[in-house]
Parts: sequence; structure tokens; C-alpha cells
Amino acid sequence: MYETMEEVKNAIKDCNKCKLCAKRKNIVFGVGNENADIMFIGEGPGADEDAQGIPFVGKAGQLMNKAFDVVGIEREEVYIANIVKCRPPNNRDPEQDEILGCINYLRNQVMIVKPKIIVLLGRISLQNILGKEYKITASRGKWFEKKGIFYMPTWHPAALLRDETKKIDFIKDLEEVIKKSSEF
Ligand code: URA
Repeated sequence: MYETMEEVKNAIKDCNKCKLCAKRKNIVFGVGNENADIMFIGEGPGADEDAQGIPFVGKAGQLMNKAFDVVGIEREEVYIANIVKCRPPNNRDPEQDEILGCINYLRNQVMIVKPKIIVLLGRISLQNILGKEYKITASRGKWFEKKGIFYMPTWHPAALLRDETKKIDFIKDLEEVIKKSSEF
């Protein structure tokens, strides 16, 4: 494990641990405050993120930004990263070997940021951080604590694009996050 984000970035820059490296335009490392209290973990880059090298800049990300505005989260104040750093083709789910090759980078990012709260965006994030037995429908909106970190699973922002009604849950979950963060 590396001590600084620069070192992790350096370690990942020519990564070829899995097949996703073949078609990537950019590694989508992560952005934000490296000392954030709140960290968001998504699934993996889409086409826009791959093109720009920044997480959550496409349609789902723009919707997430709007939700941030509603509840008063500044994107620059939090840290945002993904389970896999390179784009899975056609936005398919990342495969287990890809996740296994990549997850230590994320673990290292968490170790450096030391967030008090981690928001798990969607099933892939939830199941690869808390465990395969967790279901997103049953877990979203609930707090889970592990080793001093509070986890809030919620819908992936792309799910809100498909189902408007999920926006209400998403905002509610973010409000919970704000409330908890004010207690620290
Ligand atoms: N979806 C994700 O899970 N992550 C991104 O960075 C963009 C879309």
C-alpha cells in the first residue's frame, strides 16, 4: 500500500492487470478532496468518463451533481472513485477478475482519504465492498458500520435515469449522509 495518492496514481498509470486496459482511453482514477469525510464509490467508467478520465461526468454524473446541489454537497469537498478504473465495454458489469485486479487501488485510496462515511452507489459497489450477500433493494437507505466507517448504500445514479421515482430515495439517502456527517 502507498502512503500518498500521487504514489497510487503512479502505480496505476500503466496498469495491465486485466483485459480492460486494451481499449481504455483514460484511467479514471478518482477526484476530489483527499481528506474528505465523505467518499462516493461507483461501479466503473462509462464512455464520457473514459474520454475525460474523470468519474461521473456523463448523464448519470450530471444527475448526481444535481442531487448534490439539492442537498448541499460540494463535489470538491467529497472524494469520488469507482470499483474499476477502466471502462467495461458497452457498459457491461465489471467481471470478477477485473474487480479483483483493481480493488486494491480503491482500498489504497480509502486508506489515504480515511473517510468517515462511504456512499455505495449501486449493487456492484455494495456487493464488492460489503459482501455478495447484500442486496441493493434491501440495503439502500440503511447504515452499516464496519471498522469505524459508516456505509450508506444507495441507488446508482444511472438507475435514476431509468426510474424517476428512485430520485426521491436518492435525495433522502444523501440527506441522511449529510445529517450523519454533521455529527462528527
Ligand atoms: N457510472 C459509474 O459507476 N461510475 C462513473 O464514473 C460513471 C458512471
